[in-house]
Amino acid sequence: MEFGFLFLGQELGKGLILLQSITNPASQQAERINRVFNSFNIAAAAMLLLVSFLVVYICIKFRTKKGDSSEPLQTKGNTKLEAVMIGVPALLLAYFFYQTVVIERAVAPAVDKTMQPDIIITGHQWWWEVEYPASKVVTANEVHLPIGKHLLMEMRSADVIHDWWVPELGNKMDLVPNMNNYLWLDINKPGNYAGACSEFCGAQHAWMRINVIAQTQNDFNKWLALNQSNAKAPGDALAMAGEKLFQEKTCANCHRIQGTAANAIVGPDLTHIGGRQEILTGIMKNNEGNLYKWINHPQEIKPGAHMPDFILEKDSVVAIAHYLIGLK
Ligand code: CUA
Repeated sequence: MEFGFLFLGQELGKGLILLQSITNPASQQAERINRVFNSFNIAAAAMLLLVSFLVVYICIKFRTKKGDSSEPLQTKGNTKLEAVMIGVPALLLAYFFYQTVVIERAVAPAVDKTMQPDIIITGHQWWWEVEYPASKVVTANEVHLPIGKHLLMEMRSADVIHDWWVPELGNKMDLVPNMNNYLWLDINKPGNYAGACSEFCGAQHAWMRINVIAQTQNDFNKWLALNQSNAKAPGDALAMAGEKLFQEKTCANCHRIQGTAANAIVGPDLTHIGGRQEILTGIMKNNEGNLYKWINHPQEIKPGAHMPDFILEKDSVVAIAHYLIGLK
């Protein structure tokens, strides 16, 4: 499948590929970074214009005039001019260095290790585990966050180095094995914010997308309460068959569905998978047909993923997909 993703995009209905933007800050941290970035760009543009103008002006003003073959005036050194040419850039650099330090301290203040993070993000090859320690909710890939709150995010890795970056929400943060990094976040307005893993981490790095769903505190609380509850599968015969197969086949060896015997944490938590917008960090929209395609041939859709092709019977895959989409 040379044209894998192109083909998948049409065939499977691509997930929500949202635009990532650094010019549209939606958090206090991003606004601060944006301000210094913009003022730096203005200063750099002004300097470029000034130098370009001087080059052109001097070329015209001091060009050789027709019929004038005399030698130009020979001078050496100009202390005043040199002082200006060194002094102005040095002052500009010093100013932006100072601004950078100020903003760094404001965006990433020191973290007291005894503080309880509001959210723990763990990078896996190639998905994001999302945990809310206070409510014990665990989910994957879709990161629900409340707006207007000073959030502390703890960043971990289960395997290799990943890098969190949602441009509209501010700075990047590496997720490093055996090390906890922290990110502060104050989101200003509700919405979906797209990001992606920004450190090469293996075969599916390019598809390790992030979907942050920023909600009002009220909506967030509702989502959290729903996700705190055990999975409720629809009671129809196909879903019940699917649940049985899920527990009997290898699915339960890697995945957790809260309220059932499946309690493994190798792969993403599937307790409320039916309520998610996308699967596979944005490769596909979440629906029964796409779940079927994924479970049927994981390696065709996400080559290198740690979920092997299990070669299940068609009826079994249909039942499992039906069961999973019902987990709301
Ligand atoms: Cu994870 Cu790149």
